[in-house]
Amino acid sequence: MTHEPNRADLHKDPKRVSGMFDEVAAGYDRTNDILSLGQDRLWRVATRNAVAPKAGERILDLAAGTGASSVALASSGAEVVAGDFSPGMIAEGRRRHGRIPNLSFVEADATNLPFADDEFDAVTISFGLRNVNDVDAALDELLRVTKPGGRLVVCEFSRPTFKPFRAVYQNYLMRALPPVARAVSKEPDAYVYLAESIREWPDQRALGLLIKHAGWTHVAYRNLSGGIVALHRGTKPEA
Ligand SMILES: C[S@@+](CC[C@H](N)C(=O)[O-])C[C@H]1O[C@@H](n2cnc3c(N)ncnc32)[C@H](O)[C@@H]1O
Repeated sequence: MTHEPNRADLHKDPKRVSGMFDEVAAGYDRTNDILSLGQDRLWRVATRNAVAPKAGERILDLAAGTGASSVALASSGAEVVAGDFSPGMIAEGRRRHGRIPNLSFVEADATNLPFADDEFDAVTISFGLRNVNDVDAALDELLRVTKPGGRLVVCEFSRPTFKPFRAVYQNYLMRALPPVARAVSKEPDAYVYLAESIREWPDQRALGLLIKHAGWTHVAYRNLSGGIVALHRGTKPEA
């Protein structure tokens, strides 16, 4: 008899989430590319443009995984810290990108960041906030480590705006993605979890409100790929 993991509760258990990402670390970027039909490259460019990193700035890319999002930020010359709580992801990131002098990988739990107050000019999190077990705590921590007037960019899966497309997309997520993931990934459960966590995640407006409630101002969002992904921005109030 096989025992299915209790996926509904998976996101509430940081150790299991960290372990799951440790397992997928090596093949993670390639699998994402396939499952998103190559769209993830466009989403990364849009995120980088929204963060608008400049040389001399210090930027935190939280839940950075293997650093795919961080590399694009570091090419600006800014000092980029890629933080993630999965040792497997951090090790794979260091192996791939260890030679980039202005990019460092740090083991960091989003709900208890190992950084000082007001340390970063900008903080960003791509496809990570949804995985964090306590989203409010992560938004509070991101605010704490950002300089007054500093900026936040959240890139996350969201809700397609065109209703007929939304139905097709839900079908893709729940029916097509798990068998495709089984074919291309050694850890297909991680992608079943991905589909379920996207379905349960707040839509554009609701996430905007969470960010506002955490204390960020000038909160706004824009949709990418018809709302499959949304980019939310915020600013830390001046002291
Ligand atoms: C889907 S990956 C995203 C990686 C990368 N940002 C990207 O765009 O490819 C999500 C990452 O969130 C990390 N993560 C989940 N919960 C976390 C937490 N509480 N603190 C830090 N990282 C966390 C996981 O380890 C994983 O590497």
